[in-house]
Amino acid sequence: MRVLGIESSCDETGVAVYDDELGLMSHELFTQIKVHAEYGGVVPELASRDHIRMCLELIEKALKSASSTKDDIDAVCYTAGPGLVGALMVGATVARSLAYAWNVPAVPVNHMEGHLLAPMLEEEKPEFPYLALLVSGGHTMIIDVAAPGSYKIIGQSVDDAAGEAFDKTAKLLGIAYPGGPLLSKIAQQGEKDKYKFPRPMSDSPNYDFSFSGLKTFASNTIAEHKNELDEQTKADIARAFEEAVVDTLKIKVKKALKKLKYKNLVIAGGVSANLTLRKNMQELMTSIGGKVFYPRISFCTDNGAMIAYAGMFRFKRGERADLGVDVLPRWPLDTLN
Ligand SMILES: Nc1ncnc2c1ncn2[C@@H]1O[C@H](COP(=O)(O)OP(=O)(O)OP(=O)(O)O)[C@@H](O)[C@H]1O
Ligand SMILES: [Mg+2]
Repeated sequence: MRVLGIESSCDETGVAVYDDELGLMSHELFTQIKVHAEYGGVVPELASRDHIRMCLELIEKALKSASSTKDDIDAVCYTAGPGLVGALMVGATVARSLAYAWNVPAVPVNHMEGHLLAPMLEEEKPEFPYLALLVSGGHTMIIDVAAPGSYKIIGQSVDDAAGEAFDKTAKLLGIAYPGGPLLSKIAQQGEKDKYKFPRPMSDSPNYDFSFSGLKTFASNTIAEHKNELDEQTKADIARAFEEAVVDTLKIKVKKALKKLKYKNLVIAGGVSANLTLRKNMQELMTSIGGKVFYPRISFCTDNGAMIAYAGMFRFKRGERADLGVDVLPRWPLDTLN
């Protein structure tokens, strides 16, 4: 069986073809970074318009590079939420219409499940059960994944998501949108322990996070140096901030692994591209005789491949969208089954 996957929840248009025997056959991505850069963040209306502009072209390309035609496609899967309502509507309308025209089912996919299952596209796949750390632009969650489709959120951010904290702190440092990856690059030049940022909520008995205070801490540190904020000082602050985020994530993950007695860890979502995070999680898992799994860097942020994969899983379970075009801008992961 072969499915087409369409992602349009935010500022990336992604399309992929996935076959349950042959694996990922093609994937195409168009990122709108340039569209939104001058505004310093995603402008929802511009995002929707750009998805309209790119969607069909990417579908044609993806089919062609998978040497497939519409006749090879058994279902059209699309991100139905969570995300920006207008952006989601574009992908949902295109997917629903194609499915109708091709006389195949349309399958709604939860974007966060897409991120969570992205490591399954790699050669080395995690075995169930596992603990998942989902760290993206909009979410920070620790999830107990007992089996495919069984997601129990055991901890999450009470305010900013990890990626959001990266982006906001980057902005304070004068780094262009989206700042996360660039902040991380600059941090490599930073001097270790030049500044000491707090590890928020690390003493609390739960698995929740709070990252908005780190952004304030960064803001105050920057203000203290406003007359001498040279490149080295920026790098030192970036490094201290990154280490605080990573360390906080590590403390909570370690605690959750101990409680659940799991030896497999999956990290997914945009921030899982962060090399300091990967290194730290690798060290943690080695120290407890466990293993860490993550998607390839290009599948950490939004993409069509993860939607096609999660879509195949839901398609095989018999899940179908009806003829209406519905999206769910809020669609909590733990309401899936
Ligand atoms: N190397 C990196 N280091 C730190 N943060 C990063 C890195 N690469 C990407 N990010 C962050 O990841 C986020 C984007 O990830 P993703 O595309 O998964 O999020 P999103 O789709 O906007 O949010 P969600 O999936 O929660 O709806 C941004 O906040 C970005 O700064
Ligand atoms: Mg995402």
